[in-house]
Amino acid sequence: MAIARLASIVLLSLAAYQATAGVTRQVKCPSGHFTTNEKCCQLFPVVDLLQHELFHGSKCEKGAHHALRLSFHDAIGFSLNGGKGGGADGSILIFHDVEEKYHANGGVAEIVRQQMPVFKKTNLTGGDLYDPSTKISSTFVKLPRSSVHLAAAVGTSNCPGSPRLEFWLGRPAPAAAAPDKTIPEPTDSVTDILNRFAEAGLSPREAVALLASHTMADQDRVDPTVEGTPFDSTVERFDSQFFLEVLLNGTMYPGHGSHEGEALSAIKGEMRLKSDFLMSQDPRTACFWQAMINNQKYMMAEFKAAMARMQVLGQDVSTLTDCSDVVPVPRVFNGPIKYPPSFSEKDIVIACAETPFPSLSTQPGPPPTVSPV
Ligand code: HEM
Repeated sequence: MAIARLASIVLLSLAAYQATAGVTRQVKCPSGHFTTNEKCCQLFPVVDLLQHELFHGSKCEKGAHHALRLSFHDAIGFSLNGGKGGGADGSILIFHDVEEKYHANGGVAEIVRQQMPVFKKTNLTGGDLYDPSTKISSTFVKLPRSSVHLAAAVGTSNCPGSPRLEFWLGRPAPAAAAPDKTIPEPTDSVTDILNRFAEAGLSPREAVALLASHTMADQDRVDPTVEGTPFDSTVERFDSQFFLEVLLNGTMYPGHGSHEGEALSAIKGEMRLKSDFLMSQDPRTACFWQAMINNQKYMMAEFKAAMARMQVLGQDVSTLTDCSDVVPVPRVFNGPIKYPPSFSEKDIVIACAETPFPSLSTQPGPPPTVSPV
């Protein structure tokens, strides 16, 4: 009797300690993983499948780039004023036959073709993944509509230096395809880009934060003759090299001549988007841009926070379940970053006068050439 009373006192004290110390209760899943909500258990095998089949063994390469870009193109189809789509609702997968025809979605058809068979293999059931009330052809009913955002979080985690992104489960079925002209294009002006982001509820600071994604990115469509040209010289890493290299005085194009949406780049084999360069120079965004350089922790925190908002645009978060703990923990990169060989501060097109430009050293060696991804 005394022992039972003692045991219950110990348990109560433990519960009180956990509550006051903010210790979160963990559930053990059949797979052996731990999570804070048992609804998330079903996702661990999905994460393994994505890592194996989409990201070729947890790699930071094309598959991961595709997944991150797709989550943006899905989510930004939204306006606080209505009439621009359901936001981060998976419509880019479910209504891919409509959305992939939009000009800004060049390459999306190919990405969807790669991702779709993998998502179908998940065979998940439950509110998030199977909704018989949708008017979607039976081929697509098993498609997890959150999968586009889970894949982005998992793919990004494969790039050393990235933050561990959030993932929220439980989106209702998308009602319709997002309309055309919601996705910014590299030919757009900064005003058009910022207006589009603002309409979706995202600030200029968040727009710059989201462009950290271009540190793990390359192009196929802006100049199709040089497919896979990366946007920075360390495309395999989530570092701030992209923000530095966009500011280097541009002198060349990676292919033959300029193309729509392309700006002169400083490094052989590297593509610079016109929109990225304009964002780096505009008074509304230039200091946010410069603040990222060699500031790994700040960049990670900014990107994580902006992605957390972007990936639930248009969703009622109170109905979603936080399954962020299914996202793998990324490998660390602490820097410092350096100027590519032969470059220094004299090559920088400085656009933010408010703060001194960060002091960086230069990598040794001859002028660099960046290889395609
Ligand atoms: C001003 C806004 C943006 C513009 C104009 C823009 C434009 C582009 C363009 C033109 C490409 C090359 C596509 C190709 O030719 O294959 C690209 C690639 C990419 N973008 Fe953006 N982007 C913007 C914002 C974002 C955001 C907010 C994200 C994610 C949060 C993102 C993630 C990516 C990724 C990961 C790639 C590489 C895709 C791949 O390799 O398939 N972009 N972007």
